[in-house]
Amino acid sequence: QEDIFKNVVSHAKEYGFIFPSSEVYDGLSAVYDYAQNGVELKKNIREYWWKSMVQMNDNIVGLDAAILMHPTTWKASGHVDAFNDPLIDNKDSKKRYRADVLVEDFAEKINQKAQKEIEKARARFGDAFNEEEFVTTNARVVEYLSKYKEILSRLAKGMTDDLQDVKALIDELEIADPETGSKNWTDVKQFNLMFGTKLGASADSAMDLYLRPETAQGIFVNFLNVQKSGRMKVPFGIAQTGKAFRNEIVARQFIFRMREFEQMEMQFFVRPGEEMQWYHHWKEARLKWHLSLGLGKENYRFHDHEKLAHYANAAADIEFNFPFGFKELEGIHSRTDFDLKAHEQYSGRKLQYFDPELNENYVPYVVETSVGLDRMFLAVFATSLQEEVLEDGSTRTVLKLPAVLAPTKAAVLPLVKKDGLPDIAKKIIEDLKWDFNVAYDEKDAVGRRYRRQDALGTPFCITVDHQTIEDETVTIRHRDTMKQDRVKISELKDIIENEVSM
Ligand code: GAP
Repeated sequence: QEDIFKNVVSHAKEYGFIFPSSEVYDGLSAVYDYAQNGVELKKNIREYWWKSMVQMNDNIVGLDAAILMHPTTWKASGHVDAFNDPLIDNKDSKKRYRADVLVEDFAEKINQKAQKEIEKARARFGDAFNEEEFVTTNARVVEYLSKYKEILSRLAKGMTDDLQDVKALIDELEIADPETGSKNWTDVKQFNLMFGTKLGASADSAMDLYLRPETAQGIFVNFLNVQKSGRMKVPFGIAQTGKAFRNEIVARQFIFRMREFEQMEMQFFVRPGEEMQWYHHWKEARLKWHLSLGLGKENYRFHDHEKLAHYANAAADIEFNFPFGFKELEGIHSRTDFDLKAHEQYSGRKLQYFDPELNENYVPYVVETSVGLDRMFLAVFATSLQEEVLEDGSTRTVLKLPAVLAPTKAAVLPLVKKDGLPDIAKKIIEDLKWDFNVAYDEKDAVGRRYRRQDALGTPFCITVDHQTIEDETVTIRHRDTMKQDRVKISELKDIIENEVSM
């Protein structure tokens, strides 16, 4: 699994998807830049989300609120007081860790030990192997798995809110500093995740601001503006995509946990009392959206939260099977009227809706869907990256991106660099580029060019050869099957559109 993940990171760099930020200065930890192909893939994911949210729902509208907001926003939202991570320092190595992550990693290691034993036994016993029996009778595996489950259940119960409890668990399990092996820990402390900045030039009159840690608050404070100017009727939603910033302590796993990232959030405003019905609706709707990308049903699961954040009365994650295991991809939260009420209280303004059917005023309840764009990118990219062994025994690296998300939809390749073939290829590009991102490539043998497009995730390669001069046909090669068809140039647009349209 580690190797797969390393491959993902190096492929992303080698093929122009993701670079470390400011790499000439050796990079900036947990900050990344999207390169020429990455920016297209990211844009396509964003558009795929936006279309399904805003274009396809006549009661959801968009918004693009500013990253900088009035500082009182974050008092009201609870982020100033409650947006903290539990940290622990190792006294010997002076290294700092997120205490809950330390425990989580430890649990994962125990689980891996159990899985190794299971695999070893499977190899030994072959067809006679009965996994169900083995995991209940083999003493070592039983011990590993029960310990693993116990730690996970303690984490899931939100024990990280009780700092002493985390510290006790770290001591009890004798968890060591992963780098130095030292078990000499400090107590667990809280650390606020918001990035501070200043508005205004002179030191004494400057105002302390925060970079937003979630996009949602821009929606809450605009709720009434949008409702009135758009004549929206509850239930309705406001959708937004944009940057958010968190000073993550343990930023790791590439673009999974970044300090600057992008969210795609939708707040759905409903009548009080109807929130549970909408919460279930959006849980299902969001899972359906993910499944529509075709990355495999088995790669998703719900994780219902037992312990809830300060603002929620129900919450679930959609988890995805990343190369490092199942982790949160999207959150669906029933946020009650917590945020709107808090903004009423702190601003002194009414944020109420007059419901003409009920003939009464109320503060709506909110169901939120919140997905990380970068995490979506990682899910799509990592799952699509595959090594295939071909019939002739050679391997090919292919990025089987959903065609709708592919950065380049087709590459046009003249078989040779002469006999007028490049001119025909360029003419085809001139026609197609109004509708799709298309690329031209004439360098190297055509087989190598195919492989390069496979690695970039391009669904179609169109090859112009000598027959094209005679009958205006080309070959079109399909990335996943490598099958080639001979088609008329005039048919290309429809063939491509059929596969790649949203
Ligand atoms: N408004 C609710 C909210 O922000 P969250 O669970 O903290 O909830 C929502 O974040 C989503 O944003 C997560 O499911 C994840 O996909 C993404 N996300 C959160 N922190 C992130 C980070 N440091 N790097 C990348 N994505 C992140």
